[in-house]
Amino acid sequence: MARLRVGVLISGRGSNLQALIDAAADPRYPAEIVHVISNNAAAAGLARAERAGIAHSALPHPSRAAFAAAADAALRQSGAELVALAGFMRILDDSFVAAWRDRLINIHPSLLPAFPGLHAQRQALGAGVKIAGCTVHFVRSAVDSGPIIAQAAVPVLVDDDVESLARRILAAEHRLYPMAVRLYAEGRLRISDDRVAILGAPAAAGVLFNPSPAC
Ligand code: GRF
Repeated sequence: MARLRVGVLISGRGSNLQALIDAAADPRYPAEIVHVISNNAAAAGLARAERAGIAHSALPHPSRAAFAAAADAALRQSGAELVALAGFMRILDDSFVAAWRDRLINIHPSLLPAFPGLHAQRQALGAGVKIAGCTVHFVRSAVDSGPIIAQAAVPVLVDDDVESLARRILAAEHRLYPMAVRLYAEGRLRISDDRVAILGAPAAAGVLFNPSPAC
């Protein structure tokens, strides 16, 4: 079975990239990472790609349009069929978003449409929400917008600070992103009216209460 060829764009740590690398290490996983691109030559994620033997490049970002053209060329050359943003911290040029429409996904550390943009975990703490989480979505040109593919929820605990909440959300991200890429690779996502239907996916059961209903 041919695996879906995925390009990944990063800017930093690359822990979500690592989660995808780890998932793809299983030959039964229906996707493989063919190229990792960073706008930042010092990104730790580039070393993760190197260790995994995955082609990788650091591309300069003189302007949005120049980066988009170079990234687009590199992705096409590597035969990428899907592009996954994993902690990519620059806004992508509209031309890139249009060229990869419905083949470009992102992960964001909030339950979108709440708390788009920077510091989502701080925004969640500031708003006093009791449940936070993460979202994988198709990318449209407005920041952190686009049809939602999958979400995972975690409780916000009374003594949380930004770091502890971010850690809890990140652990969920590392499970959610490989799952969402798998669903895409299996051809199970249908977008209509800017909403995503997932073929043959049972909804999660149960209710996450916070505080616990035992309170
Ligand atoms: C993650 O929280 C992701 O949701 C957000 O940026 C962070 C990237 O972390 N878009 P990492 O580089 O994957 O470790």
